[in-house]
Amino acid sequence: MRAVVVPEPGGPEALTLSDLPDLEPGPGEVLLDVAATAVNRADLLQRRGFYPPPPGASDVLGLECSGTVAAVGDGVEGWSVGDQACALLAGGGYATGVVVPAEQLMPVPAGIDLVTAAALPEVAATVWSNVFMVAGLQPGELFLVHGGAGGIGTMAIQLATAYGARVAATAGSAEKLAVCTELGAELAINYRDEDFVEVVREHGGADVILDNMGAKYLGRNVDALATEGRLVVIGMQGGTKGELDLGKLLGKRGAVIATSLRSRPVAEKGAICAALVEHVWPLVADGKVRPIVHATLPLEQVREAHTMLEDSVHVGKVVLTT
Ligand SMILES: NC(=O)c1ccc[n+]([C@@H]2O[C@H](COP(=O)([O-])OP(=O)(O)OC[C@H]3O[C@@H](n4cnc5c(N)ncnc54)[C@H](OP(=O)(O)O)[C@@H]3O)[C@@H](O)[C@H]2O)c1
Repeated sequence: MRAVVVPEPGGPEALTLSDLPDLEPGPGEVLLDVAATAVNRADLLQRRGFYPPPPGASDVLGLECSGTVAAVGDGVEGWSVGDQACALLAGGGYATGVVVPAEQLMPVPAGIDLVTAAALPEVAATVWSNVFMVAGLQPGELFLVHGGAGGIGTMAIQLATAYGARVAATAGSAEKLAVCTELGAELAINYRDEDFVEVVREHGGADVILDNMGAKYLGRNVDALATEGRLVVIGMQGGTKGELDLGKLLGKRGAVIATSLRSRPVAEKGAICAALVEHVWPLVADGKVRPIVHATLPLEQVREAHTMLEDSVHVGKVVLTT
């Protein structure tokens, strides 16, 4: 099979298309002929040598894909050769073939083409598991997502809106703020020249915050929380070590939670995938939530795809076809 490998950590030029031995599914696994994969910010970190795959996972990049079932391992039920699917991966998506635990396979939502389906698993799983399963966002609550025009942000705005929450989103340009509004955000805040704390507080504070910035926003995120607010940190684009004022958090009876999807055991990922099929795929089929794809490039242009994310010129996801 062909796969993107990283012989030496580095910039986008480190990404190299190479021939690797074909894969075979083990018990409980499925082999997918990959149609498409998508770029995640974690891939950029892994390329630079900072985010090694969890034990046992492929060291080929790629946390999600779509494709056609090519072989089924012992004990797998419900999937047959020729079925189309999309999958949440611990790695290995930037390739023409990938082996996936059957629990992490999902049908392609109705109305979505196979290539576009590659843009869904990682963002849908991250948003659903954090905003709904962990933080328990309720209809009518105010939800703040940072980086509203990114892959996670575009999914978060749509899902929170679809579930009846009020949404505030931050972004760094007028064009990206317009996207946030179009997707359902009531408050679109330019983080370069507005104070999100002030804006959100004028509306009673945020009940749930989904944060990609980590240390840089920790104090201000706590300031922006409403009473009994929940801050969920999923990214550390602004550093890992910050200062937390426990007095403020205690006064608000607030919660600060940090999570990672990739390292979770198969059973937990399987439970998240099952929840997506139950709660998110019907919204996608109805057109209430749609994958936002900035560009679809062939795997040969993986360096350009990484550069798009690095320069943050994208809105939503960048997809790579095999
Ligand atoms: N923990 C997990 O399990 C998990 C899973 C998936 C993703 N993540 C993390 O979630 C984050 C978002 O991922 P993604 O795939 O959506 O990446 P992405 O598409 O590259 O989005 C990143 C966003 O960060 C925004 N940003 C940059 N500086 C900012 C600032 N100072 N304030 C607010 N926003 C800022 C950018 O907005 P502008 O372009 O408008 O500047 C961009 O939209 C990443 O940190 C990723 O590592 C975590």
